[in-house]
Amino acid sequence: MQVITQVSELRETMQALRCSGKSIGFVPTMGALHEGHLQLLRASVKDNDITVCSIFVNPTQFNNPEDYKLYPRTLDADIELLQTTGCDFIFSPSPEAIYQQHTMLQFSFGKLEQVMEGEMRPGHFNGVATIVGKLFNMVQPHRAYFGQKDLQQVAIVRQLILGLGFDIELVCYPTVREADGLAMSSRNKRLNVAQRETAVSLHDVLELAKSQLRTQPVAAIKATVAEYLKGKLEVELEYFEIADPLTLQPVEQITEGEVALCIAAFVGPVRLIDNLVVNLS
Ligand code: PAJ
Repeated sequence: MQVITQVSELRETMQALRCSGKSIGFVPTMGALHEGHLQLLRASVKDNDITVCSIFVNPTQFNNPEDYKLYPRTLDADIELLQTTGCDFIFSPSPEAIYQQHTMLQFSFGKLEQVMEGEMRPGHFNGVATIVGKLFNMVQPHRAYFGQKDLQQVAIVRQLILGLGFDIELVCYPTVREADGLAMSSRNKRLNVAQRETAVSLHDVLELAKSQLRTQPVAAIKATVAEYLKGKLEVELEYFEIADPLTLQPVEQITEGEVALCIAAFVGPVRLIDNLVVNLS
């Protein structure tokens, strides 16, 4: 496994591999790797000749400077973990290497970024689209792997690929969870023992909401979710939405097909998100 920090070296290496007919899988990350990331990596290793993992804590997608500062950075441990997956290249650039010049380019994703994460974190998806677009251009992979854990991010990347005509297959990988159901996240590392225990209520309440989908209207399910979390110490609900899993727009009436149950909440000082996609047909 090779660690690359320079954009020019990455471009040259990838170009040579593509020319020799190798298929390239790409897993973009911000490091602090956990089993959720590693499963994406293993899926890429299985599907492709070559796998590239990027590790870059992207400043432009953090709407909260404190969150950027506190984001865990564990490059040495990440490299060790990646060695177990069969990953071939780690791209770990400096912010200066990525953002050499100021650009006025802005992305707009219309309604898709006006709900949930887009609404709560202004500028977040512009930063995500910018870095993912840049990385796609540098790596030029055949396939790119993203987790369902960040469902709205998957929808944004789908639009980015479609809108800019990237010749990349988007693979959406199911959410990897801890034994008690908590979605794995780099931010879980910032929870203390008591907060870690209550954090599982996000998943529990999604399951509770799921169990009511066929019998209760949307408003009643939302009320149940809010009521359930009110009783949990240090948990503050930011939003719970029942949405279309592709457009992320709120569903007013639950009928057939797939719906996404999406939640964001603070557990102590840590903001966590989770979702379940349920097929009602
Ligand atoms: P990061 O939060 O490090 O996540 C990297 C990838 O791992 C994302 O596609 C995310 O959805 C996926 N992932 C995280 N936790 C997961 C879990 N429990 N199960 C399955 N997949 C999981 O998402 C980002 O970084 C950044 O926004 C990035 C795309 C790298 C752009 O900077």
